[in-house]
Amino acid sequence: MKRVGVIGFPVAHSLSPLMHNAAFAALGMSDWHYDAMAIPPDILRLGLSEPKNHGYIGINVTVPHKEAIMQFVRPDEKARAIGAVNTVDFRSNIGTNTDADGFINDLRAHDVPLAGSRALILGAGGAARAAVYGLTRAGAEVAIVNRTAARALNLVQRLSASAGVEGVQVLTLEAAADWNMALLVNCTSVGLHPHSERTPWARRLPFPAGITVYDMVYRPATTALMRQAAAHGGRAIGGLGMLARQGAIAFELWTGVPPPIDVMLGALRGALAGETEDG
Ligand code: ATR
Repeated sequence: MKRVGVIGFPVAHSLSPLMHNAAFAALGMSDWHYDAMAIPPDILRLGLSEPKNHGYIGINVTVPHKEAIMQFVRPDEKARAIGAVNTVDFRSNIGTNTDADGFINDLRAHDVPLAGSRALILGAGGAARAAVYGLTRAGAEVAIVNRTAARALNLVQRLSASAGVEGVQVLTLEAAADWNMALLVNCTSVGLHPHSERTPWARRLPFPAGITVYDMVYRPATTALMRQAAAHGGRAIGGLGMLARQGAIAFELWTGVPPPIDVMLGALRGALAGETEDG
């Protein structure tokens, strides 16, 4: 049996086992299996030796271990730039981060123009770091708005120091309303189920017309922010494709087999359709 999995705490809610096992089943890879392992933060080093010693080929890493695990693996350039590891290959002990590529691959799959376009990021956590890194590398002009401005400034400084990313502005939401972006990316948790009436774009401000919104929130499938975009002549894309595509990168890394994206996306859609009423 070839084993892979995800470590986190808690981890039971993770959709990754379902997504990867659906991919293995669709390709007849019956000797592969993906499972979830709950590892408390205080025993991360010990917990990590379990899958390693039991012959796991690799693991995904989720909250709260993505940063702490960096000291136990060899982070590659992407992981160092983003400051977090979400995928490990035990054969090399290299840790990488698939969030930026998963995000950019999904934007490209939706034919969203990136090079030379203006992209506004809402948020300054780990998801925002991956988005800013991916978008600047794809040639977009990037600005950030965050509730806590100091955290956005810190993100910009860290990406400059770790990856040489320059020219990223920090704006207020008021200033961003006049910034003429083509793409707006929600990397905050605002609008996440069960607070699905909330939006990170304050309703007192005019909503920019005709833009593309990408919402990393995928529960519910259509968020209040996505509805605002559609109501103002824009386009709205939910974050499920990013989840599928970052998983697909890990799948290919571990197995060497081209990932069945449609199967992975279909498994996620099926799980979420059965999960929430407001999706
Ligand atoms: P992740 O690693 O998934 O990005 P995170 O590091 O917890 O998660 O970041 C969450 C983001 O959502 C932050 O940008 C946070 O803003 P602050 O830096 O000001 O905390 C943002 N966020 C969460 N709740 C919010 C709210 N009610 N209003 C505005 N922003 C919010």
